[in-house]
Amino acid sequence: MSGGGLIAIGDPLPRVDGRAKVTGSAKYAAEFPVPGILYGSLVMSTIASGRVLRMDTAEAERAPGVVAVITPANAIRLAAPERRISLLQDDQVFYQNQPIAIVVAETFEQARYGASLVRPQYQPSAAKLDFLAGFPNSYPFSHNGEPGDQSWGDVDAGLAAAEVKIDEVYTTPIQHHNPMEPHATIAQWNGDHIMLHDATQHITGVQEKTAAIFGIPKENVHVVSLFAGGAFGCKGQVWSHVMLAALAAKQVKRPVKLVLDRPQLFGPVGARPRTYQQMTLGATREGKLTAIRHVVHCNTSVIEDYLESAAFPARVMYACPNISTTSRLVQLNLGTPTYMRAPGVATGTYAVEVAMDELAYTLHMDPLELRLRNYADVDPHSGKPFTGKHLRECYQMAAGRFGWPKRSSEPRSMRRGHELIGWGMATETYPGKNLTASALVRFEPGGRILVAAGTQEIGTGNYTVLTQIAADVLRVPAASIDARLGDTDLPPAPISAGSMSTASIGPAVKAASENARQKLIALAVADRSSPVHGAHPDDVEFDGGRVRLKSDPAKSETFVAILRRNGNQRVDATAATKPLLDPQTPCHSFGAIFAEVAVDADLGMTRVRRVVAVYDAGRIVNRQMARSQFIGGIVWGISLALYENTDVDWRYGRITNANLADYHVPVNADIPEIDVQALDIPDYQLDSIGARGIGEIGITGTGAAICNAIFHATGKRVRDLPITPDKLV
Ligand code: MOS
Repeated sequence: MSGGGLIAIGDPLPRVDGRAKVTGSAKYAAEFPVPGILYGSLVMSTIASGRVLRMDTAEAERAPGVVAVITPANAIRLAAPERRISLLQDDQVFYQNQPIAIVVAETFEQARYGASLVRPQYQPSAAKLDFLAGFPNSYPFSHNGEPGDQSWGDVDAGLAAAEVKIDEVYTTPIQHHNPMEPHATIAQWNGDHIMLHDATQHITGVQEKTAAIFGIPKENVHVVSLFAGGAFGCKGQVWSHVMLAALAAKQVKRPVKLVLDRPQLFGPVGARPRTYQQMTLGATREGKLTAIRHVVHCNTSVIEDYLESAAFPARVMYACPNISTTSRLVQLNLGTPTYMRAPGVATGTYAVEVAMDELAYTLHMDPLELRLRNYADVDPHSGKPFTGKHLRECYQMAAGRFGWPKRSSEPRSMRRGHELIGWGMATETYPGKNLTASALVRFEPGGRILVAAGTQEIGTGNYTVLTQIAADVLRVPAASIDARLGDTDLPPAPISAGSMSTASIGPAVKAASENARQKLIALAVADRSSPVHGAHPDDVEFDGGRVRLKSDPAKSETFVAILRRNGNQRVDATAATKPLLDPQTPCHSFGAIFAEVAVDADLGMTRVRRVVAVYDAGRIVNRQMARSQFIGGIVWGISLALYENTDVDWRYGRITNANLADYHVPVNADIPEIDVQALDIPDYQLDSIGARGIGEIGITGTGAAICNAIFHATGKRVRDLPITPDKLV
C-alpha cells in the first residue's frame, strides 16, 4: 500500500488502501484462492439447553458433493478443547444457534444443502432465560483484574445529605455487531503446520488459540488477515467456527473454507449483553453531586463470564466524594457476550448522562451548567491529575457551534408544525490505553521503504496511519512507503480493539523508523565512498530519502545509492515498545456531544436532525480519517439510541430478528449533518505519538444526547433503549 506526497502527522492523507478496497483487489479472508478447497457449513442447535442425543446424518452424507458430516460422534479429538466454544467434542447445547455439526462439501451450495439435511434429536433441559429472575443468583466478575466493583466515600451518607435525588433504572438490549463481512476462515494443513486466513481483530490471538487447542507449537500456526470488513468487537475472540474450520480441514485432509451466513452471526460470535442499570444520584440544590451509586446487572452465558463494564463511566465522569459502582453477571442460555463498540462505556454513559439530564431538569438547571458544576479536574477516585483533560474546551466549542445558548429550557417548547423539536447534550469519555507492540522498518534497495507489523486492518485505517507515522519520522513521501500488516510472520502486535491501535503500534513504528534510520546512517558514515563518510552520526540527517551532512548540506546521497554500494543489502530494524504509563495514572479521552431531534407528534418517529461533537482525544494522526472515525462512532451511537435491538423470544431463547431486514441499523437517510471537531492536544504521557485513540468515544455519549433531546422535544423520558416510536406515542 502506498500513496501521497511528503506527509506529516496530522495531514489528511487519503487511505493508502482506498484504491485496493474500491477496486476489489483488497483480499478479505474468504477471498484467497486455494486449490482443492472444500466448503464447510455449520449445523446450528435449535434448543437453548440440553444434549444432542443423536444426529441422523445419513441423508446429508448421501447428498451430492458432501465429503464429510462431522459431529461429536466422529469428530477428531482435540488436544485441549475449551468449554467456551463448540468444538464437537461433546453433545452439550448451551444456547440456540450453537454450532453442533459441520458439513464439508465440494461447493458452498452443496455444503449448505447438506447441513440442512442433518437431523439432530435433542434432550432439552431447563434453560435459564429469565434475566430479572436471575438477579438473586447473579455474581461478580472475577477475571483478569478488571474491577467489577469500586467504591469510595460513603454513598449512603452522601444520599442522606442530598437535597435532590434521582433514582431510576436504565436498560439496554442485547445487540449484535453485524459487520458487513461475515466471519470467515480458510484452514489449510501441511503436516502439523496450519495456515489460516481469518477475518479477525487479533491474528496472534488466533495463532495462540490454534496452537493450544490442537497441541502444536505456536510457530506451526501461520495466520493471515489482510483486511476485515468491519468487526466492532465480534472478531476479537477466537470463536467456534475458526477452530471448526481447522478441525474439518484436518479431518478431511483438504483445505476448508468456512463462512458464516448472516443468521449464524446471532449467537456463536458474541453480542453486546443486556444491561439493567440502577442509577442513583444525590445532589445539593446548587447541583453539586453528593453521591453516585451505579448498580449494573448484565447477562453472560452459562459457559463463560463476560462483563459489560457499564459501571466504568460513573467512576470517572464527575467530581463526587461518594461513589459506588457494582456489577453483577446473570447467566442466561444465550451465546456468550463480548466487546461491542465502546463496550461498557456506551451502555454505562447512557445511564449516567440520562440521569444527569434528569437531575438538571429536577433542579431547573441548564444540563451543561450542571456538568460544569461537577467538572472533575482530577480523577474522582484517586485524586490524581489526568494525563490531559480539556473537556471544558470541548463543552464550550461544541455548545457554541451548536447554538446551545439559544435553547429554550422547557420540554415541548420548540414545536414546528407536527414535529416536536428537542435539544440534548451529553459528556463522552473513553479510556486512553495501549499495549506492548513491535514493528519493522526496512530500506529496500529498489528505493521503497517497508513498514511492517503483525497488527491488522479492521477498516479503521491502520495501513494509512502507520504509513503516515513512518513518513513523518523518516521525512519521506508517504508514496515511497509500503505497509504490510496482518501476518503472524511479522513482528507481533496486539489485538485491534479498545481504540488502542495507534497508541500501541504507532510508537513501535516510530521507534523502528528511528532505529532503521540510525543503521542507515551508520552504514553511510562507515562507507568510504559516501559523501558523509567519517562524519559523526549526529551531524547526519535523513530527509526526502537522502542522507545529508548538516554542517555541509552539499554532501548528500540517496539511501538507494548507499544500499547499492553495499551489495544491494536491505537495511532494517525492529522495535518493541511498551506502555509508558503506569496503570494507576488516570488517562481518558473526553468529549461533548449535542444533538437536535425532531419527533413526529402523532407517529412517535424520531429523526436526528443534527449533531455537533468536540473531542479531546490526544493527537490526531490523520485529520480526514479521524473525522470519519468520529462520525462512524456517532452513527453507531445513533444506532444504539434509536434502532438496534436483538429480539429474543424469551420462552425459547431464540433470536427472532437474526437478519439485516429485521435487525435495524442506520442507513444514510437516517444520518444527519454531523459536525465533528477534535482539539488535537497531544498526550505524550500515554505514548510517543501523543495519540489517545479515537475509534469508540463517538459512540459513548450519543445515546444519552439523543435520549435527552427526545425528552426536551416530547416531555417523555425513555429509559429503555432503543427509543422506538411505540415508546413515544
Ligand atoms: Mo472493540 S468493541 O474494543 O473490539
